[in-house]
Formats: sequence, C-alpha cells, structure tokens
Amino acid sequence: MKPILRVLFMIAEADPFIKIGGLGEVAGSLPAALHRLGQVQLPGDGQVSGSELEAPVEVDVRLAIPLHGAVQRKNYPLRSLANFRIPYGRGFTRVEALTYEGDGFPIYFISGPLIPVDAPVYSLDSAEDGLKYTFFSLAVLELVKILNWKPDVVHANDWHTAPAVYSLGINRQPGTFFFETSTLLGLHNLPYLGDKAGPGLAAFKLPPDTTTSLPAWARNMPLPLGLLAADHIVAVSPTYAREILTQEFGCGLQGYLKSRAASISGILNGLDVDKWNPQTDPALVRNFGLTSLDERLANKLALQEEAGLEVNGDIPLLTMIGRMDQQKGIDIALEALRQQANRSWQAIILGTGNHSLEESACQLEAELPDRVRTVIRYDSALSRRLYSGADAILIPSRYEPCGLVQMIAMRYGCVPIARATGGLKDTIRDFSASAESTGFLFAWDTPTALGATIRRALQLFADQEEWRAIQLRGMTEDFSWERSAREYLVLYQRLVSNRMKITTAG
Ligand code: GLC
Repeated sequence: MKPILRVLFMIAEADPFIKIGGLGEVAGSLPAALHRLGQVQLPGDGQVSGSELEAPVEVDVRLAIPLHGAVQRKNYPLRSLANFRIPYGRGFTRVEALTYEGDGFPIYFISGPLIPVDAPVYSLDSAEDGLKYTFFSLAVLELVKILNWKPDVVHANDWHTAPAVYSLGINRQPGTFFFETSTLLGLHNLPYLGDKAGPGLAAFKLPPDTTTSLPAWARNMPLPLGLLAADHIVAVSPTYAREILTQEFGCGLQGYLKSRAASISGILNGLDVDKWNPQTDPALVRNFGLTSLDERLANKLALQEEAGLEVNGDIPLLTMIGRMDQQKGIDIALEALRQQANRSWQAIILGTGNHSLEESACQLEAELPDRVRTVIRYDSALSRRLYSGADAILIPSRYEPCGLVQMIAMRYGCVPIARATGGLKDTIRDFSASAESTGFLFAWDTPTALGATIRRALQLFADQEEWRAIQLRGMTEDFSWERSAREYLVLYQRLVSNRMKITTAG
C-alpha cells in the first residue's frame, strides 16, 4: 500500500467558487495538481530533486475556503458536513461546515455568523477581515479534528490563514491532535500583513508574541505571527524568496526573515494550461498555435479595428492588462509611453482599480487619441483577445511575488516587457542576456528604464524573424502546475520527516 500524505490547504479564495485575484488562481489549480500527482507514479523527471521523493505516495489533499456570500451555491451542490461551536470572546460562535467533491478531492466551506453573506471577500479594513479570517482559520482546524482527519501538513496562505499556523505553533503540544502536523505558510504578497487584525486574534485568544524575534510593531499581526510560527515558508518564486530578505522588499521584516533563511524557499506558481490555450480559447477571433502562428495577425487586426485604431499589422501594438494598483506600476508605464510619443506604436490598456491611476490612463488616451485606448473595466474576454493579438505587454511591477499575466502572455505569443523582479525574473529570459530569450527585462522601476526597454523591443519588432523566434520560445515554455506540485510534494515530505524527528526525540 502506498503511504498517504495528508495535506490541508487553506486559503481565502479558490477558483471557480470565488476568485478575486492570484490567490484564487493558485487555489484553483495547486490542490488539484497535488491530487493528480498522488495518483501517478513518482519520482519525478529530474527537474526537481525527485530522488528525494519517498515515492510512490498517495496525496490526500483537502481544500478549505470560507463560504463567502458571493459563492454561487446553486452551481455547486454543497452538502452539510458538521455543525459545531468554537470559543469566541467570552462565549462561543457557531460554525457550519459544508463540503463539495469537485476534482475528486474534498473541498470544505466554512460558514457562520462571522462570515457575513453581504461582506466582500476582502474589505478595505483589515480590522473587519481580522475577525472573519481568524474565525475561518480556527474553524477549519476544529473541523478536521471533529472529522478525526489528521493532516501531516497544514499549508496556509497569506495573512488570512496565518492565524491557523500561529495557533498550531502555540498549541501543538505532545499528546495533542496536531502534535505531528507540520506547518507551511505560503507567501503571495508580503506587504499585506493584516496590520489591523490584532483585535480579531485577541477575540479568539491568540495572544501577541512575547519573544523578541519579531520587531515590536509586528507582534500582534497575523502574517508576522504566522511567519514566526511556520515550520517552513514558501514564497511563490525563487527570486521573491530572496528579495524579501532585503530592505527594498522586506516590509520591515527582512531582519527576522534573514534569521529564518534556512526555512524559506521559493516555488514558482504554474499556469492552468487548459484554461489558457490559444488553440482552443473560444474568446479569440482566430485560434492559433505553434504551427499556425501566422493566424495570430487576424487577432491583431481585429483588435485595431475594434479599438478604432489604424488597422495596420506593421505598427507594434502594446498592451497592459490587470489591476490598476501601485504594485503593478501602471503610472510607470503611462509616463514611459508618453516619452516615446515620437515613435510608431499603439497601446490598449485594460483594467480597473485605483481611481487616480484609472484617470491617468484615460488622460493618456486624451493626449494621444490616435494611438492609445484605455478601457476601464474587468473584461475577461477582451483580456484574452488582447493576449492573442497584441505584440507585446508591459509589466513594470514594483514588486511581483510571482505574476500570472506574463505566463499567459507568453503562451499566447504576446512578448513580455517586464521589470526584473520576483516571478517575472524567474519566468522571462531577457533578449540581451540570452540566446534563448522569451522577452525583455529591465532593472529599475522608472519610466526611463522601461522606455529604453520599449525602444529595444520596437527595434527588434522590425526584424520579424527574430520576433517570431521569441514568440515561439515563449509559447513552448513549461509553466504547468505539475512541476510546482512536484516541488511542493518534495518539500512536504521533508517537513514530515523533520517533524517526525522532533516528535519522536527524547
Ligand atoms: C499575489 C501576487 C502575485 C502572485 C499571486 C499568486 O497576487 O501579487 O504576484 O502571482 O499572489 O501567488
């Protein structure tokens, strides 16, 4: 019989039930990839240190998310699993746990008065969210206890579920249910510490940290406390795992994180290659693939037509897609484009978010009406048409733990022009640095640096043969989740054997 590895994956959102951003994408793919991996023969292909796998192993992965009001319950037959109470304030609060068997593994939904149906997944105020997510984190732990399903690894993600890791850190004593359980905290976005969530922790009797490892200001915030308690920390790319140890990216925690460097690693996220496939994507005007890249031009011409721009395949068409947020550097891109106004290019910008950034993007269209279009909305079909028709995409992120748009863009033959940070650096090979390039990278988050790189790209675009080679290499990159899942599996197994040494010692 294969040994069973039990993994409890907890997170604030998961596609397709509820998706706000990158976390939802990850949760929609990684647990399923782990589940599939548990069905096949291991070890791996040498890409990861497959020799360390104690293969074959069966992975019993279970995903837990809050039952947010926005989850469309009519699309998913949820079955009630358990009703119980957990300590809250001076008394108790109710929990209803429901379940759904999606991709062949259980998904747990947690509901209760502290997850109000009219509350957004993330409110602007982390004080409100603090109560909701601390409740969620602890309710999930209580649920698996009631089910008598003992996880080998609790894999929590970001500040929302960090309270579970902290709680285990405090309460994982010999003889208790979770004594043998290892904890892993996935880091998708360090600046979101849950800074006002302290009262939420207190309401569930999770005290501030009293050791002096963390800086004083961080001792009552979920993410720092989770980092403190976690057996292991995984950043969503190897470069981000290194960057968080520096002052520029460490959010004031770099000193503490450096002291934990041996327990931090980086595992790159994957891409759902079925969901993002230019050969089958029904949103495209014309489907295409490696052997039919010429067909792609029809998508570009259709976009130019749709946007009311000059319809001309020779004019480079740039795009920018995504949340309009400081992190994403849209202001950097707008200024860089403004500085290139004497060259020939067009740009279509799609996204929503911060109002002043939205306004600046509209302002650029007003200044350059015959070459810039700004579309302020969330439009998934248009985003797919942009990936399939634009020549290049600008991604000047100030920081990017992993990033998804560059992977989608490459798969769709849209060449990334991106800042060399985090996952962008790990997924794109720069034109001047590599004969096997898949895009363009620049070092500094300034309009001048991006502008110079746009000029490099425009120059290369004139050489269509070279450009095609870059496109084709990007389209053949392996971004599949299976690769990431294998790395996680190796890590889980290492954590389990480390924990075993501790629990059996003495
Ligand atoms: C966050 C990060 C993004 C990452 C995603 C999933 O949204 O900003 O870079 O891709 O999490 O890990």
